[in-house]
Amino acid sequence: KWGKKSHKCKVGFTPVPNSVGELDNVMPEISDDYQYDVLIPWGTALEPGTVKEYTGDPSTRPTAQEASLQVGIGHDGMWFFPFRGSNRKGVLAINHEYGSNSHVLGKDAPESLEDVRLSQNVHGVSVVAIKKSRDGKWTNYKSAKSRRITVNTPMAFSGPAAKSKLLQNPAGNIALGTLNNCGSGATPWGTYLTCEENFNGYFGSSEGDAFTGTEEQDRYGFSANGFGYGWEKFDKRFDLSDADYTNEQNRFGWIVEIDPFDASQKPVKRTAMGRFKHEAVAVTIGKKGKAVAYMGDDQRFDYIYKFVSDRNHRSMLREGVSPLDEGKLYVARFNEDGTGDWLELTIDNPMLAARFNSQAEVLIYARIAADILGATPMDRPEWTTIGQEEYVYCTLTNNSRRTEPNAANPETPNSTGHIIRWKDSEHHTGTSFTWEIYMLASATLGTEETFGSPDALWADPYGRLFIGTDGGQEFGLQDQLLVIDTKTGTSRRLLTGVNSDEVTGITVTPDQRTMFVNLQHPGNGDPGATNFPAEPDGYTIPRDCTLVITRKDGGIIGS
Ligand code: FEO
Ligand code: CA
Ligand code: CA
Ligand code: CA
Repeated sequence: KWGKKSHKCKVGFTPVPNSVGELDNVMPEISDDYQYDVLIPWGTALEPGTVKEYTGDPSTRPTAQEASLQVGIGHDGMWFFPFRGSNRKGVLAINHEYGSNSHVLGKDAPESLEDVRLSQNVHGVSVVAIKKSRDGKWTNYKSAKSRRITVNTPMAFSGPAAKSKLLQNPAGNIALGTLNNCGSGATPWGTYLTCEENFNGYFGSSEGDAFTGTEEQDRYGFSANGFGYGWEKFDKRFDLSDADYTNEQNRFGWIVEIDPFDASQKPVKRTAMGRFKHEAVAVTIGKKGKAVAYMGDDQRFDYIYKFVSDRNHRSMLREGVSPLDEGKLYVARFNEDGTGDWLELTIDNPMLAARFNSQAEVLIYARIAADILGATPMDRPEWTTIGQEEYVYCTLTNNSRRTEPNAANPETPNSTGHIIRWKDSEHHTGTSFTWEIYMLASATLGTEETFGSPDALWADPYGRLFIGTDGGQEFGLQDQLLVIDTKTGTSRRLLTGVNSDEVTGITVTPDQRTMFVNLQHPGNGDPGATNFPAEPDGYTIPRDCTLVITRKDGGIIGS
């Protein structure tokens, strides 16, 4: 396989030099061999003509109702689903991870339920139909497939914890919404997986300083004020102390499956994959046709997980059972000698049975179960991807608080992050693996390949690894998109973003001649820093958007 395709595995483009990425921070810089266009910034009408567009004028804001019909904010993970293999037409499923109150509302705290609903409606997911016109420009268009999923969209629960009392509230309300949708993944059966990451920050407590968290709440980071969104003041679902909504908090922290081609499908939270701060997910097919999913929990000293379906994914689908509902969940232990073990999170393990009453509880409190099993605390696991020769790569973005090194996380503190890779036994389905540090970002500092805080990650089928960064880059560089040839180790910078943004959500058309990447939180919403995608005017609020990247000669992206 490698031999046939190796001629295409070339990273030969002219890189963006340090000097250029450093100098201009109000507009992106791209390789001289490439070009970009802007697609669906925050506030774009999901379906053109159906609602007023929001274009970043700070003197006006969309209403909550308008926002529910517009593309949201905080563009992060995404996936392009082509119509019958088309390179010109399909749907883009895209996560709207977050938007601060100051950015969205123009003030630090909501003053009404309308404010809260506006904040909630810019979060979630967009499924948006897009096409390429004759002049080569991509645009969204009116389509029955387009839909917005927000914090208030009805959701289904599935898998072993679906009927758990811990997912029911005394108020008896139905499950609603998805939150802090960070990275993503796609399944071989054509669905989109969106990952709920820092959901804890949207909850607060009406008790204020008198609030004390349970052991479980502490482990998941709940607090009286959360991240300061203030939703709990007008929407009791997000009040940790409201007796009607005691378990609302447990309804978040899941992977949610969305059918991108059926806007009437109710998104499904897959409880068998565990509840933690899901960064992203990489799905592949392992031995005997089992579906395998690799997942990171992005917090300092948290873990890497793997889910393996019980049976052949095709037979399960034929039987009407989701391959993501019946299977085993494991957490990784990276041994010092380069071997590793996948530790199963099961109530059949006496160590877990001593703490939990059911498999549902093990899954709802997966972090605590993983603590008990002795998983290896990592330096913030972000995205995973599956490259050639069955290698699984994972970005460990950084860890300012690490003082005790381990072999898999050797730097103290880990200021710039690293990439680890491993190879599982039994074609992804075994319980052991071998691993190595693939790359320390610190080793690139000072070179023209300088990068730090690797986050988004995608391996193409030809041996290229695309890395999006999220963090202050060394030497004043802006966040960037890099391409590595995993065969030769050649690394080149394809793109740098704008002030305070991150580069994330890497996806392509089937021919790999169009790539979509996201510029998230440009300028952190501050019009003084950048006005992108508007030209510099010192006034317009910068807006999260998708960049459409092509080679000037029409070649494969990365070449
Ligand atoms: Fe939402 Fe860990 O990035
Ligand atoms: Ca992000
Ligand atoms: Ca991320
Ligand atoms: Ca990050």
